[in-house]
Amino acid sequence: MFDPSTSQMWDIAIVGGCGHVGLPLGIAFATRGANVVLVDQADDKVALVNSGKLPFMESGADEPLARLIGDRIVASSDPRVVASSKVVIVVIGTPVDEHQNPEPHKVIDAIEALVPYLRDHHLLVLRSTIYPGTTALVEKLLERNSLAIDVAFCPERIAEGKAMVELFKLPQIVSARNDRAIQRSSELFGRLTDQIVVLSPEEAELAKLFTNTWRYIRFATANQLFMMAQDFGVSYERIRKGISEGYPRAKDLPGAGYTAGPCLLKDTLQLAAFNNNDFVLGQAAISVNEGFPLYVVSQMERKFEKLNELTVGLLGMAFKGESDDTRSSLSYKIKRILRYRAGAVLCTDPYVTSDKEIYPLDIVLERSDVLVIGAPHEVYAELTTQLPIVDVWCLRGEESGL
Ligand SMILES: NC(=O)c1ccc[n+]([C@@H]2O[C@H](COP(=O)([O-])OP(=O)(O)OC[C@H]3O[C@@H](n4cnc5c(N)ncnc54)[C@H](O)[C@@H]3O)[C@@H](O)[C@H]2O)c1
Repeated sequence: MFDPSTSQMWDIAIVGGCGHVGLPLGIAFATRGANVVLVDQADDKVALVNSGKLPFMESGADEPLARLIGDRIVASSDPRVVASSKVVIVVIGTPVDEHQNPEPHKVIDAIEALVPYLRDHHLLVLRSTIYPGTTALVEKLLERNSLAIDVAFCPERIAEGKAMVELFKLPQIVSARNDRAIQRSSELFGRLTDQIVVLSPEEAELAKLFTNTWRYIRFATANQLFMMAQDFGVSYERIRKGISEGYPRAKDLPGAGYTAGPCLLKDTLQLAAFNNNDFVLGQAAISVNEGFPLYVVSQMERKFEKLNELTVGLLGMAFKGESDDTRSSLSYKIKRILRYRAGAVLCTDPYVTSDKEIYPLDIVLERSDVLVIGAPHEVYAELTTQLPIVDVWCLRGEESGL
């Protein structure tokens, strides 16, 4: 479809463009009239996107992609297309490694690989969530390669599944070392939103990590209070509703739940590593949130006699409701624990397609003795069943079923 040898000029090249952040961003820019090339090393995603299909669920993105593909949007695994674009946005994944260490060099390596295709006229926008100091390292890398490129760090702050609304509504943080790069990146994101917030690169790098860490710690607070209430024999959800009703200073106390996904834990780990591992609140939050599945299963052992002989149906394997994304989902941690503490565990999810061990809901309902809601998909709120349900999300009412 796309011939990189032609001199076609793209407005925007998005590297990592077929990912959860890059693809909705590209679609959003295209709906505002930009010509967008999505550069991604995953050939299967590139092929799927070029056929007009999303590789994952993202509400409201299917229709504009199907309409604009081959016209304003093209996907390519050929990095040479970067040379024929005005703006290059890099939004590759930045996961921690198997020992939970950040890998800040990944973004640098990806940009180093792009050097042959970068030109002085480019605006290079870093949009991945990066380890603090990465923008400065990228600037040095470009300088070493005698490239006079405007560099900006403009973090993504959407919640997965809400991108097609939030990209047009949320303020955009824009940061760069010089006025021209600020102006160019403000104009770029001005296509999407009226609200531009200007910070220095170092402020913006911390701002993004603070955003996610703050959210992670809030959820940990809720989960710790849930456990406390549970151990005292009362309902956290009833207390939460009681204290937040008509009382604005407690309105933001979240409900309990499995705090998971590709960003919050990872970014708390990045911030801890950045601060020489001195991040007591963040580390406590990790301990609470990551320990929550084990607490729930321990409570189940108390509540259900001979759990080790029962079949547990695990409802929802995605990391959050109405999503097919299983990255860092705590449902898999629950599954792992139940595998040796319960008789058997059967998993189901209406959206997840990447897991071959998923059963249809009716089979799970038929074969299980007890159910656990792993991901709060709406369908589980209305489920009709006589089976006991462990529901720490309180999707079905104020009682957790523990
Ligand atoms: N998922 C979210 O909701 C969210 C929200 C805000 C910020 N972020 C941040 O955005 C970044 C991207 O996250 P994501 O969820 O989109 O990840 P993702 O894994 O869904 O997408 C990343 C894409 O980059 C591609 N890729 C990786 N290296 C590449 C390379 N060198 N060249 C070309 N393509 C490459 C991968 O194939 C993949 O398609 C991360 O830093 C993340 O922390 C994510």
